[in-house]
Amino acid sequence: MTMSYDGLGKRLFATWYDLLNAGVEHRVIPFRRETAGVSDGDVLEIGGGTGANLPFYPEGVRLTVLEPNPHMARKLRRNADRQGRAVTIVPGFGERMPFADGTFDCVLTTLVLCMVQDVEAVVHEARRVLKPGGRFLFYEHVVSSHQWASRWQTWLNPPWRFFTTGCNLDRDIGGDIEGAGFENVDYRQFSLSVGVPVKIPNIVGVATRANAP
Ligand SMILES: C[S@@+](CC[C@H](N)C(=O)[O-])C[C@H]1O[C@@H](n2cnc3c(N)ncnc32)[C@H](O)[C@@H]1O
Repeated sequence: MTMSYDGLGKRLFATWYDLLNAGVEHRVIPFRRETAGVSDGDVLEIGGGTGANLPFYPEGVRLTVLEPNPHMARKLRRNADRQGRAVTIVPGFGERMPFADGTFDCVLTTLVLCMVQDVEAVVHEARRVLKPGGRFLFYEHVVSSHQWASRWQTWLNPPWRFFTTGCNLDRDIGGDIEGAGFENVDYRQFSLSVGVPVKIPNIVGVATRANAP
């Protein structure tokens, strides 16, 4: 799979991301606490963006962030330095991660699996790089389980994807995580209001890698 991640769209996405998110960030914070906030040990965040999760990691976490967009990575470095947070930033894609099997205690995604090229590959990789007994913590927006709402998401997806440079509204991310071979997958689905009279289905949860490899 050939993957590249630069160009004007990605630069603009990095420039505007925090501003565009500002209106909904306060609604997202509880789920950052529920995922990043309960991580421990050696932690990998896939697609860390500009570092919105940084303030929520407990002290003592040894944090690595994988981020393919160099413009995002630059902002992430600035934010981490400003907060005095040690972080190793690694360029790369979740579909093929440059880490050995069983490296991390926790792997985390927040609003990332909507953007990756291959969700199944990323969640399999997340499981591979976890230590036995390690936890994959995720908070994502997903396709609705209601027929009419999911049709609406499918219809809206092409323009949405274009304007957001790659975000998809119509993915069954919970199903992909359930199919990735974790020992236990535990999540809940709910609707997040984004201010206007629109609610977006979200999932938040944890998948655990079995103790025996
Ligand atoms: C919507 S942003 C979310 C950023 C951050 N996690 C947050 O909570 O604000 C999605 C991030 O995923 C990254 N991304 C996109 N495709 C990716 C891939 N294949 N592997 C890893 N990260 C990816 C983007 O560069 C971007 O930083």
